[in-house]
Amino acid sequence: MTEMWRERTHQVGWVLLPLRAFLAFVFMYGGISKIADNRFLDGSSPLSIHASVAAVRNLSPIGGLLGPVEAHSFGFGVLMAAAEMAVGLGMLLGLFTRIAAIGGMGLALSLWLTVSWGAQPWFTSADLVYLFAFTPLLIAGAGGVLSADAWLAQRRAAQPGAAEDRTRRIVLAGGVAVAGAAILDGSALFRRSGHKTTTAAGGTAPTASPTSSAAASSSGSAAPGSSKAPSSKAPTGPVLTAAADVPVGGAQKVTNSNVADTVWVTQLQSGQFKALDATCPHQGCAVDFVSASEGFVCPCHQSHFDATGKVLSGPASSNLSPIAVVVDGKDIRST
Ligand code: FES
Repeated sequence: MTEMWRERTHQVGWVLLPLRAFLAFVFMYGGISKIADNRFLDGSSPLSIHASVAAVRNLSPIGGLLGPVEAHSFGFGVLMAAAEMAVGLGMLLGLFTRIAAIGGMGLALSLWLTVSWGAQPWFTSADLVYLFAFTPLLIAGAGGVLSADAWLAQRRAAQPGAAEDRTRRIVLAGGVAVAGAAILDGSALFRRSGHKTTTAAGGTAPTASPTSSAAASSSGSAAPGSSKAPSSKAPTGPVLTAAADVPVGGAQKVTNSNVADTVWVTQLQSGQFKALDATCPHQGCAVDFVSASEGFVCPCHQSHFDATGKVLSGPASSNLSPIAVVVDGKDIRST
């Protein structure tokens, strides 16, 4: 027994087996969970690939290339899930192992350059680790252990001409995969677009009153329920939005570079306005508002915050930053 294990530690296929099994599980799980989660392909969901791409376009060094991905996110989402499952299956079966390793490296590289690009410090990005975790399998393949590649090689040796058949099968399988993705993407073009450019979720817009109260999100601003903006001095901050545009029980997304890249103005109770910087404290993606009960989610790594901005689950470890606001006539203004 001891002798057998000593021998195996010198065989690269056995040494790589735990890594192969781990990568197979992770990539198959990743691909299946994307298809099983109907929010991933739903362009209106903050957890969709569309939302993720939109969130990282301005942060990524390849953001300029992401336009087609965002425009055809359904097709790319299906393609990505299928590619992850194919890589996982290749690792599991030891089938076309080097090709699967190249595919896994491509996926990890694309994720590193997009959703993981802002990781701090940079070497903590899991996608960067996956990128290099495939390199032994790229170099050595499955090493002939529990491997369909080894079985095919034996068959090929026994049947002259099998290599040519194998090449034909690879080309055919690749063509079918590309054609399938093209058909799915084409069908996506005919789907009714569910993308939201500005989200106002969770209720009807209020009949904003110039005298409605301002709930400031930091001390020094108007207290919740007060009937007027502080009167000692007129608010001078920029107008974020019209109060009438913020739905009761919902939130309004606002872009105002004087305050933050993106701001969510909420009105969880009638007349109670607050504002939050949408920048996720993890790596800087813009969070999306789901509902008053479900709060905010980050499309990049799914950090979850309640509707007041308090972090519920990571990887973010701190709350969304509040922005002090006040009602000024019909407007919501930062102070
Ligand atoms: S940027 Fe990573 S969870 Fe938000």
